[in-house]
Amino acid sequence: MSRKPAKTQHASTKKPKRSNALTAARPASSMSVKLRRGEPADAKECGRIVFEAFKSIATKHDFPQDFTSPEVGAMLMSFLLGHAKFYSVVAELDGGRIVGSNFLDERSEIAGVGPISVDPIIQGKGFGRILMEDVLARAKERKFPGVRLAQAAYKPFVSIQSLGFAPASRFRSCAARHPR
Ligand SMILES: CC(C)(COP(=O)(O)OP(=O)(O)OC[C@H]1O[C@@H](n2cnc3c(N)ncnc32)[C@H](O)[C@@H]1OP(=O)(O)O)[C@@H](O)C(=O)NCCC(=O)NCCS
Repeated sequence: MSRKPAKTQHASTKKPKRSNALTAARPASSMSVKLRRGEPADAKECGRIVFEAFKSIATKHDFPQDFTSPEVGAMLMSFLLGHAKFYSVVAELDGGRIVGSNFLDERSEIAGVGPISVDPIIQGKGFGRILMEDVLARAKERKFPGVRLAQAAYKPFVSIQSLGFAPASRFRSCAARHPR
């Protein structure tokens, strides 16, 4: 599950600071990106990223945040990462820095994608696409007849159309239900 980059030069072998090497205008394809299965130990960092990523898009569109804190994000991540029926993928750079994660809910006949999140300081460089392609490859490998992705209407749909998704239905409201 590792994608080999075109070039492997990385700014430093030390853990990068959050705001320098990562924010450089380099695409994911030029960085050394490793995809691996998520582990329960990733919950804290994936939780921080899911919190920051969803907060960033909600704030941009003037919508309420999905997660109230990084700890709430970590609780969800902990649940998903420890669940045998959720496939998980984590993208990390050299030195083990996690930049995003994605999931595939394999509990039903139709697999469910998400939540996907990429650290806002490194969005727009192709990591989201890599994480999406990985879970779609997993769904194909497991021979799921279909894949669903549910998201708030304010989020851009056009990006996921390029991955083959077509609109299925609109929810007027959605009752939260803890997954089993
Ligand atoms: C959506 C998100 C993961 C994209 O990450 P990114 O690294 O900026 O993405 P990229 O640079 O690869 O560019 C966009 C790609 O992300 C994917 N993407 C974009 N919007 C998406 C969405 N709502 N759901 C799933 N994947 C999405 C697509 O593969 C898209 O590829 P394309 O531009 O070639 O069509 C990121 O913006 C994020 O974390 N957003 C906040 C959380 C969120 O809204 N998640 C989606 C709903 S669960």
